[in-house]
Amino acid sequence: MPMNSPRELFLHDLRDIYYVEKQLVQLLPKLAQESSDAELKRGFTQHHKETQRHVKNVEAAFKALGERASTEECPGFDGLKEEHDEFMQERPSASVRDMFLSAAAAKTEHYEISAYTSMVAMARSLGEKRVADLLQKNLSDEKETLRKAQAIGRRLGREGAKEQRSATPSRTSSASRSRTGSKRSTSTRSRSTSTGRSTSRSSSRSRARSTR
Ligand SMILES: [Fe+2]
Ligand SMILES: [Fe+2]
Repeated sequence: MPMNSPRELFLHDLRDIYYVEKQLVQLLPKLAQESSDAELKRGFTQHHKETQRHVKNVEAAFKALGERASTEECPGFDGLKEEHDEFMQERPSASVRDMFLSAAAAKTEHYEISAYTSMVAMARSLGEKRVADLLQKNLSDEKETLRKAQAIGRRLGREGAKEQRSATPSRTSSASRSRTGSKRSTSTRSRSTSTGRSTSRSSSRSRARSTR
């Protein structure tokens, strides 16, 4: 059926976000289970409760418009989910998995924030104040969740980098060793270091290609 009115576009977007919120109600407990970090786990559990409220708000928006609540598959969100599923096949360590999950949470919140921001504006321009208010509530929760996910992500990033530094010799100490050695051996070492780095970059690129 051709779509030729702003109201039809709005209903399409409402069905789309209804699909996303319902999928997230299923998915968030699984993400909480996959998390090792206590704050991240708590964040997913808390957002699961909020997401159940988001579903109700979207259903109330359908009702306010005199429409039956229904979903429409959202390939944008399905892509994010697929990315998660594929990454988990890589069997990441607990700390890498937590870093991935906090970034995946932030990506999903960005998606929801974009969707709700344009839908609130559209509802206002259609004169649907009640609908705009309901969707604005969801938008405010998503923004707060994004802020928390990013703060957790930054902390996990710092902790991960610290762990890696203590597991491998630091660049500073190898640089100071180079300074104390002869000119010739320093240049040999720096050549082998740069070769080592480019080898590891190209192997990680080929790993990335092989997973596609
Ligand atoms: Fe939501
Ligand atoms: Fe969300």
